[in-house]
Amino acid sequence: MLPEGVAIDPLTGAVTPNTGEYTKRLSEFRGIYRDQKAFDALLGMAGDLVTYRVVEYRAENSDIFFGTTTMMPGRVGDEYFMTRGHYHARRDRGEIYYTQSGEGMLVLQSRDGQTREVAMKPGICAFIPPDWAHRSVNTGKTPLVFTWCCGQDAGHDYDEIAAKGMRTLVIAENEVSVCIPNPKYVT
Ligand code: F6R
Ligand code: ZN
Repeated sequence: MLPEGVAIDPLTGAVTPNTGEYTKRLSEFRGIYRDQKAFDALLGMAGDLVTYRVVEYRAENSDIFFGTTTMMPGRVGDEYFMTRGHYHARRDRGEIYYTQSGEGMLVLQSRDGQTREVAMKPGICAFIPPDWAHRSVNTGKTPLVFTWCCGQDAGHDYDEIAAKGMRTLVIAENEVSVCIPNPKYVT
């Protein structure tokens, strides 16, 4: 393992060199947005859009790794494009999200029912404590690019958020983003 300077493009999220990437598309989010009609209409009209891309830099045997998430702007009904959202598989692993361009909202919840939101804008580094679920939402009109860093052993636990959603929704109300309690959230 050797030190290395890794270039991160704050506008595109390109990571050079990188060790892997994946993209998520709209069709993978069926049932996650609350307005099913709007979802079907958008998918029919715009096709299977890429909603975000994740690129990582991972040194073998290192404790930490990092990368970028680049989220496209867009909405399904009144809900902005968002990530799946997850807890870490290891409950003692936190993370940071450092926003580099665009604007968004980081929505967080703890296992015991607390909720928090951290505004994402260039220069703000969000601290995600261990065992807080986190989902990012692009509330702007341009790509939202952030650099994240966490333990390689943190892992992802998507099941609970996939089944229940999150306690807080970020929606557009008169073209302004607001956070509201999710009326469908069942404790
Ligand atoms: C890693 C992490 C980010 C997210 C990425 C996509 O722990 O939090 O790299 O994985 O922003 O979000 P999800 O994984 O929730 O679809
Ligand atoms: Zn995470």
